Amino acid sequence: MSRRFRIAPGGRLAGSIRVPGDKSISHRSIMLGALAQGTTEVTGFLEGADAISTIEVFRALGVSIDGPRAGRVTVHGVGLHGLRGAAYPLDCGNAGTAMRLLMGLLAGQPFESTLVGDESLSKRPMRRVAEPLAAMGARIETRDGCPPVRLLPAAGGLHGIRYAMPMASAQVKSALLLAGLYAAGETTVIEPAPTRDHTERMLGGFGVAVSRDGPAVSLRGGQPLRAVALDVPADISSAAFFLVGAAIAAGSDLTLQHVGINPTRTGVIDILRLMGADIEVRHAREVGGEPVAELRVRAAPLRGIEVPPELVPLAIDEFPALFVAAACAEGRTVVTGAAELRVKESDRIAVMAEGLRALGVGATSTPDGMVIEGRGGEAGVFSGGSVAAHADHRIAMAFAMAALRSSGEIVVHDSANVATSFPGFESLAAAAGLAIEGQA
Ligand code: S3P
Repeated sequence: MSRRFRIAPGGRLAGSIRVPGDKSISHRSIMLGALAQGTTEVTGFLEGADAISTIEVFRALGVSIDGPRAGRVTVHGVGLHGLRGAAYPLDCGNAGTAMRLLMGLLAGQPFESTLVGDESLSKRPMRRVAEPLAAMGARIETRDGCPPVRLLPAAGGLHGIRYAMPMASAQVKSALLLAGLYAAGETTVIEPAPTRDHTERMLGGFGVAVSRDGPAVSLRGGQPLRAVALDVPADISSAAFFLVGAAIAAGSDLTLQHVGINPTRTGVIDILRLMGADIEVRHAREVGGEPVAELRVRAAPLRGIEVPPELVPLAIDEFPALFVAAACAEGRTVVTGAAELRVKESDRIAVMAEGLRALGVGATSTPDGMVIEGRGGEAGVFSGGSVAAHADHRIAMAFAMAALRSSGEIVVHDSANVATSFPGFESLAAAAGLAIEGQA
């Protein structure tokens, strides 16, 4: 955990790179592959710690999984009712997605399970999933709403519900849909705003009928899944650091290959374009039910904006990077409607505001967002210095990119968790032009 990045100031990003596979889709490929009849072949799988945690959990539940090797994973599906209870707690590591989706998937099983996680995950809220699952008949125990989570067999089985989510959360929606596979009747989840729809798309690919009526998504329980081949696109959330880095560093011209551009994930492109970024979406096509394209980004002067709140859930994981872009914009940027950032791998509002101020940028946190006084007109936006990533992968990568516009070296402490979502970040960033060095 003592790993850190040391990044020399300046430079530009250029060339053509492919960032690792999408984390959300990688988790789901293992989960649905495990519940399917037949063998699911996955390519482009994210070989990061989070997705590996999901593989290990399913192995513990009796599923045979080959790989990952060079992004290839083979999941030997056991069918909807083929999982076996594990004799020990299932470790989700740092992965909130794994834990929340597993809560839904395991709530309807005839065996008991306990889910545990690392220090960060052990502080994250699980009631948002436990409460609606309890309304479906599940028996769940938490420690004051946080992990460990104990799931007991539901006495009379699960039954479908119609649930209006109080927050825009794809994890909650997905957990309820997975529980819905085991529930009698229909399960409907209503979103207050659109959230990523990978679960619905992938379930459709596996042959499950999922219907959408405006903000409501529904499925009927008991539908079998049929194995398919899955190609996982590069993660737009990982690409985001490079989109921002190339946008802010003069002379940059960078192409990102095979990036997933599902419209429920492209808020980062829309927000950066509103700020004046030059991003071209090329060769858009559909691969295995998910839209994919090449993104070309060139440096351009950015201006501060009021981020439209409706774009926030569509860019929720990209705010650490977007806050760095805002610091490099001319004028003030205001983010509202982003209270969910406080319950991610760290409190991303508090931690980013603290780090920006440590690097000489005016940043004021608000309960649901931040106000950033952009210094885009000035040569050195950031003063250089030390920032703490608080074991949050996306905070570490966002501040690494800040060095491109810094007058002095930036040291990012506590960066080990970058491996949860972006194995090889340092070498890929270095190949693109960032003067980064990892140190133990
Ligand atoms: C995810 C959903 C988002 C996101 C997380 C991955 C998913 O969380 O922040 O990194 O794969 O469903 P919420 O749904 O809680 O906002």
